[in-house]
Amino acid sequence: MITIVVAATKGGVGKSTLAACLAVCAAQNDRATVIDLDPQQSVEFWHARRGRKNRYPFIAKGVSHNDLSERLNEIARSGHKYTIIDTPPAMLDVISAAIYEADFVVIPVKASALDITAINVTVDICQEYDRPFGFVLNDVESRWKITESALDALSTMGPVLGTVAHREAYVTAMTVGRSGPETADNKKAADAKSEIDTLWAAVLDAARDAVEIEEN
Ligand SMILES: Nc1ncnc2c1ncn2[C@@H]1O[C@H](COP(=O)(O)OP(=O)(O)OP(=O)(O)O)[C@@H](O)[C@H]1O
Ligand SMILES: [Mg+2]
Repeated sequence: MITIVVAATKGGVGKSTLAACLAVCAAQNDRATVIDLDPQQSVEFWHARRGRKNRYPFIAKGVSHNDLSERLNEIARSGHKYTIIDTPPAMLDVISAAIYEADFVVIPVKASALDITAINVTVDICQEYDRPFGFVLNDVESRWKITESALDALSTMGPVLGTVAHREAYVTAMTVGRSGPETADNKKAADAKSEIDTLWAAVLDAARDAVEIEEN
């Protein structure tokens, strides 16, 4: 099983929104589980609204950072190929425990100096445990000049997996239990699908490389 952790000590950067999108991608062709380690329970809220028709991914409820390793083993034994874990902001013990279990860590970040400076804490935890990571520049306004300089700054700190635009579809998605691409309509749906598919492909490539390196 490949375990992908979405983490950033900074609040409100899109961890839960992107965890939901990635979990839906993971569940398209394989058995996939999502875990919500955040007491705010954004992903649990989202999953509860997903309903029967779109019931995949599965959700593992009541998992804490203390029994995470054991629960992941159970999920792997039951034949799941992917687990996506959403984490809380600021709670370093929980974030660290999740990163420790990760095959790959996705770090969402917004394009501002405040956000980019703050990612050092998350990067430090990944480096402490020697876990591979990549950034996603999220909530991007393409017309803003700061987007380019944020991408430049980020690329000096680690790999950038992709960008995700500022779209109403991502906000609506969390309320109605769908993913951004599932919620958007017409051309916007194609754009959202394309950026999330690209992100998922980059995450998968990086995670598979990491797992292969570990196995060799
Ligand atoms: N790409 C996007 N476009 C538009 N809105 C977005 C996007 N990504 C996230 N948001 C919105 O930004 C807010 C924060 O997103 P989210 O809750 O996913 O962040 P978070 O990092 O999980 O927050 P927390 O640290 O509180 O858990 C939400 O209102 C969400 O709908
Ligand atoms: Mg969240």
